[in-house]
Amino acid sequence: MNILLNPGPVVLSDRVRNALSKPDLCHREQEFIDLQNKIRTELLNVYDLPADKWAGIVFTGSGTSAMEGMMTSIIPAHGKVLIIENGVYGERLTKIAKIHNISHVVLHHEWGDEIDLQKLEGELQYHEELSHIAVVHHETTTGRLNNIDAIAEVCKKHGNVPILLDGVSSFAAEEIKFDEWNIDACAATANKCCHAVPGTSFVIADRKAIEQMSATPARTLYLDLVTYLKNQDNDGTPFTQSVQTFYALAEALDELKDNGGWQKRQQQYWKLMDIVRNGLEKLNIKPYFDKEDCSCVLNAFHLPEGVSYQELHDKLKAAGFVIYAGQGGFEKSLFRISCMGEIKESDMERFISEMGKIIS
Ligand SMILES: Cc1ncc(COP(=O)(O)O)c(C=O)c1O
Repeated sequence: MNILLNPGPVVLSDRVRNALSKPDLCHREQEFIDLQNKIRTELLNVYDLPADKWAGIVFTGSGTSAMEGMMTSIIPAHGKVLIIENGVYGERLTKIAKIHNISHVVLHHEWGDEIDLQKLEGELQYHEELSHIAVVHHETTTGRLNNIDAIAEVCKKHGNVPILLDGVSSFAAEEIKFDEWNIDACAATANKCCHAVPGTSFVIADRKAIEQMSATPARTLYLDLVTYLKNQDNDGTPFTQSVQTFYALAEALDELKDNGGWQKRQQQYWKLMDIVRNGLEKLNIKPYFDKEDCSCVLNAFHLPEGVSYQELHDKLKAAGFVIYAGQGGFEKSLFRISCMGEIKESDMERFISEMGKIIS
């Protein structure tokens, strides 16, 4: 079986894989509701969030559905969002705003650039009408971990504008300060740092932010979080859910807790990423960013001289490792390595050894 070094789907633990074959369930039966309730509780427990303030809203779809649910269901009709872009996923937030006619302004940066706090402050001063800021936490395009501490500080100075966070590739492995950052909602998915399978996504939302939406007509039928929350709080679900992927997520969240929570997962990812960074450095393959700018989840590296991505990918795949290409303009210059999933230190050492054989 291949070791997946792409940023999700991930290599599953036996425990999560086995959960997929639990008994078939009807999504209108109590057993499913118990499963859904368990997931909702455990999602909040990942960051010790109290259930009277926060709600975990879970549904069938990929990470983008959670982004789209968050953007369409939290920004009121009279609201306006400032979207910060410095990669593919920030730009995707803008696409969502455009498609749904959500009033927005964009603070654009080149992919990978550090977010310019002075420009952010300028936008907040100029657009006093802003109701939200939307930003990606870990911009998987380049592996940059955006500095939400600093962004939240600027927001606090200007009316405490709440944040909509794309936590799709950081939830369960990076620190997320829900209260301190004044987060209204965080979108994430099962098949990345949670170590479950693709098919289930979720939004952690401040209940008040959802309540304020009752005056705004729903912008979508399937992704309307107001509808989901109402149904899920009343032991229901508006649509048929992907039962087996719910099983996997419930098991993966238990596994995360048993293994020491997001903090231990972060430590483990860094242990693996250090093997990769140090090993590649010895092969003269340079990381795109210094460690302090990166997420533990994924780092980008310059392609070695004279080796195309396709050649590197194919040789590594033949050796049992799936790596990930650079996106868009980075296609020919970068490759990406992720540490998510059931990956051991010995796997990463073997990966480095295979890289060494290819380079030489
Ligand atoms: C930060 C971020 N946001 C959103 C997404 C989109 O997730 P999906 O491909 O599951 O729709 C990804 C996927 O890699 C991501 O890394």
